[in-house]
Amino acid sequence: MASTESSMMKVLGNGPFAGRALELMITEEEIATRLKAIGAELSQRYGDSGPIFIGILNGSYIVMADLTRELDIPFEVDFIKLSSYGSGTSTTGTVRLLKDISADITGRDVIVVEDIIDTGLTINFLRRRLEEAGPTSVSFVTLLLKEDVAKLDFPIDYVGFSIPNEFVVGYGLDVDQQMRGLKAIYSLKEQA
Ligand code: IMP
Repeated sequence: MASTESSMMKVLGNGPFAGRALELMITEEEIATRLKAIGAELSQRYGDSGPIFIGILNGSYIVMADLTRELDIPFEVDFIKLSSYGSGTSTTGTVRLLKDISADITGRDVIVVEDIIDTGLTINFLRRRLEEAGPTSVSFVTLLLKEDVAKLDFPIDYVGFSIPNEFVVGYGLDVDQQMRGLKAIYSLKEQA
């Protein structure tokens, strides 16, 4: 659990979340080890077929960067922006398409990259939408899965970590657009 940035508990002294606390959940090293393993599995599975990775913005940009650098196969990258959360820490229950992919995925192997699956609303919506374009295959990678909460219409192929139903930040994950740059993953506590 040794890490330069990580400590077990950080109390936020100023800014919009002053008085709340961050409790370390997953270290930088644990994330790196897991992504290396998933990258190796993907390289073996896809070989020279040239899959396209589709990241869900904004949260997946760091997972995408780190995961794709573990691959030793040819691949492409694209992004889609969806929103199921307004602000704060609870879902709005609807998914909005804010930015579509640029690539034509018909006849392609597609790998969706998500930072976290909470209710499953976003990923269920995206799967239906991608399938309409006639890809050869669609598989799913998520760094985090809240398995007690998620209601999924299909299995997730690669799960980094199953986590309890807590609101987490860091490694691309935000609260009101803040804290994405934390290198580890922390549970955001109401107060210290
Ligand atoms: P879902 O549609 O409920 O599965 O939620 C997926 C999206 O909600 C993720 O891509 C995140 O943007 C956001 N989200 C869900 N849980 C968390 C969390 O614990 N921290 C930060 N964002 C979250």
